[in-house]
Amino acid sequence: NQKSFIDKLHKEHTLTKEEWITLIEGRTPELSEYLFSLARKERHRYYGHDVYVRGLIEFTNYCKNDCLYCGIRKSNGNAHRYRLSEEDILNCCKEGYGLGFRTFVLQGGEDGYYTDERIIHLIRMIKEQYPDCAITLSIGEKSKESYQAYFDAGADRYLLRHETYNHEHYRQLHPSNLSPVHRQQCLRNLKDIGYQVGCGFMVGSPYQTAEYLAEDMLFMKELNPHMIGIGPFIPHHDTPFAGEAAGTLELTLYMLGLIRLMIPKVLLPATTALGTIHPKGRELGILAGANVVMPNLSPTEVRKDYLLYDNKICTGDESAQCRHCLEMRMKSVGYQVVTDRGDSLNI
Ligand code: SAM
Ligand code: FES
Repeated sequence: NQKSFIDKLHKEHTLTKEEWITLIEGRTPELSEYLFSLARKERHRYYGHDVYVRGLIEFTNYCKNDCLYCGIRKSNGNAHRYRLSEEDILNCCKEGYGLGFRTFVLQGGEDGYYTDERIIHLIRMIKEQYPDCAITLSIGEKSKESYQAYFDAGADRYLLRHETYNHEHYRQLHPSNLSPVHRQQCLRNLKDIGYQVGCGFMVGSPYQTAEYLAEDMLFMKELNPHMIGIGPFIPHHDTPFAGEAAGTLELTLYMLGLIRLMIPKVLLPATTALGTIHPKGRELGILAGANVVMPNLSPTEVRKDYLLYDNKICTGDESAQCRHCLEMRMKSVGYQVVTDRGDSLNI
């Protein structure tokens, strides 16, 4: 039965595909509570009650890709496009440093304006001014040479969600010029180079099944990343998936708990999307085994334009507000935000 699969996962950190499917399909509120209590135990063993924060700088919403789910896809003519200058970005870092951030996440669409040369210069400038901070890049699929050059310039980590392992499902979510094989190869290249790497997927994306989620679990077990970013799919009104249902809080929390037991030392964010589908989503994510939050550090003027999905939270808030808001939220469930680079123990 399902409870014995959770015990097996807790002990052996791995399951067969059939066991994953049974565990995902057969979830109940009681089973979830049991899972979350074990997930917290594992999380406390390695990370205590600390919550790591990452300052997220959304520096461009130009994108050459056309992912069907994403609000900043190139076909969305209603998106108001912007890009931050290097000076803008450095100002975000300055403010973030003062607020206690020791990791900056540079995220953006795949924007040709930001050539390797510009990205490298930016990394150098940030590292020169904030040598005690980690830089995480999240700028999509690049050649191994480019990844190597960013790494040599000082980038420490890279987030590239694999989105879905199953090839057919990948094609249902992306135009045909994008390939799951290429994306997965990017993740392996990033690991080879020496980055701390994060993969991940959306929970409840259109056409997703328990079998596909099981395949995601097997893939992630094999890749053994340092970080895993998951959040609910949320429709955006100007995309082909405008009329699709959002992923649920309940399944997202359940997947967070399963991931914590599968890779106990992984860094696991309670994402903004989770906070968007439920007012206490991020707190509940922490209680399900997550140990990272990524408040927004982007200038308030551009926040409403980095709209990947509808009703995104924090688009009207100042960085300091978000930082303090999250501190209070984490405290409310018995955890504390720490001023730390927050490197992964999963090495
Ligand atoms: N361009 C980079 C990339 O592709 O990795 C980074 C930015 S991309 C917008 C960041 C992530 O947003 C994607 O990996 C995807 O999982 C998530 N995302 C996009 N649209 C979403 C939606 N409608 N609901 C939830 N998450 C979404
Ligand atoms: Fe932005 Fe709460 S995290 S206002």
